[in-house]
Amino acid sequence: MQASDFETTDFLTAPISARLLPSTSFIDDNGKLFIGSVAVSEIVKEFGTPLFIYDEENLRQNILEAKAAFSSGVAYASKAFLCKAMAALVAEYGINIDVSSLGEMYIAMESGVPGENIVLHGNNKSYAEIVFAVENGIKTVIDSSDEINLVHAVTSNLKKKCRALIRVTPGVEAHTHEFIKTGHEDSKFGFPLADSVARSAIEELRDDVYVDLIGVHSHIGSQIFELPPYAEAMAILAPIISEYGFSELCIGGGLGVPYLGNEYAPSISEWAQAAMTAAEQAGISKEVAVTAEPGRSIVARTAITCYTVGSIKDIPQVRTYLAVDGGMSDNPRPILYGSGYEVFLPSRANAVREKAVRVVGKHCESGDILVSNGFIPFDTRVGDIIATPVTGAYGYSMASHYNRLQRPAVVFVRDGNAKLVCRRESLEDLLRFDM
Ligand SMILES: Cc1ncc(COP(=O)(O)O)c(C=O)c1O
Repeated sequence: MQASDFETTDFLTAPISARLLPSTSFIDDNGKLFIGSVAVSEIVKEFGTPLFIYDEENLRQNILEAKAAFSSGVAYASKAFLCKAMAALVAEYGINIDVSSLGEMYIAMESGVPGENIVLHGNNKSYAEIVFAVENGIKTVIDSSDEINLVHAVTSNLKKKCRALIRVTPGVEAHTHEFIKTGHEDSKFGFPLADSVARSAIEELRDDVYVDLIGVHSHIGSQIFELPPYAEAMAILAPIISEYGFSELCIGGGLGVPYLGNEYAPSISEWAQAAMTAAEQAGISKEVAVTAEPGRSIVARTAITCYTVGSIKDIPQVRTYLAVDGGMSDNPRPILYGSGYEVFLPSRANAVREKAVRVVGKHCESGDILVSNGFIPFDTRVGDIIATPVTGAYGYSMASHYNRLQRPAVVFVRDGNAKLVCRRESLEDLLRFDM
């Protein structure tokens, strides 16, 4: 792919846009990128590659923005990125956390998030997960008829109540990738509104003395750039909220983020404002808490991933492959959804990027692509450090051991300090589960 193949390539060949870099990023006169007042080159020297570098100040700013924007309640969707340090930030600011498994609940609680601030999701929760939730006062989002029975079995055994929301699919089509759409009826998640399926479930749950059904949840999808589908969902759900006197309507997460320099997304504050306006227009009482669960929009832009270039293969008239020391095991999004990313050199972040490359990993798959249509400076060489920006969401959390690569380290940087929050896995770690 050459520059001329794009409708407009300016954003790909120009120096990397500041909009794609973490908020405390600073580029000095030599083009050296600093995050949290530390040179990326120094961080890489200390911790090696592949490496996730998070801007802790940017994480804090985003959590604060979400907390202020959704003043009646916001939960960070931990599937986007979870480790003890991240959950500890959530605990520090007192916002809620959305989890989808026993593992995520465990990490949240071990990191100091109180049970009452945890919301449990999942379309196939296990008995053990529901026991853990009920024992710890964790709010549960009920997803299916079988789960109604499971919750009943657990709560009547434990003689404890379950605080719950019901997940409803409002039949709204969000304009996003097929695999991350969830608000339409043909979805594995939630109760459809059609044929009164959701209403029957609500009535069954209201009759259960062990269930305290406080509201409705709907998550229409992920990486959504346009706000009208949220208003549409709100209008569809409003009658149920007033009919049953619910006190919470959770609009889920899904706010999109720009991964490429020509993409624009609303801010968390704009999203919240649109949700509040839509709630008012739909006639939802001010007493009802309109809540949300952003994941990607809190963490994506706050991190870059650094890699070392190991090989540059020019195939005349075809393309140039630039291979790095990570790949689909630390960022499966391109292979899962065909997601686009940019690439740049943190040592020359202000350089024009004239050379078209495909950045690939070191896995035994031709689909092991990190940046399908990237551009780098012409003089990029083997041994250089390259970075992909906007990799704070669904990278480390979806990382695998494919080809027995060890998962990268994660560093939080703030005020001149780079702190290792997840160490790089070792060869011994790879044998930990073998008997
Ligand atoms: C129920 C629920 N809430 C919140 C989220 C977070 O979505 P995002 O990271 O796109 O904000 C997801 C993502 O899959 C989800 O399934």
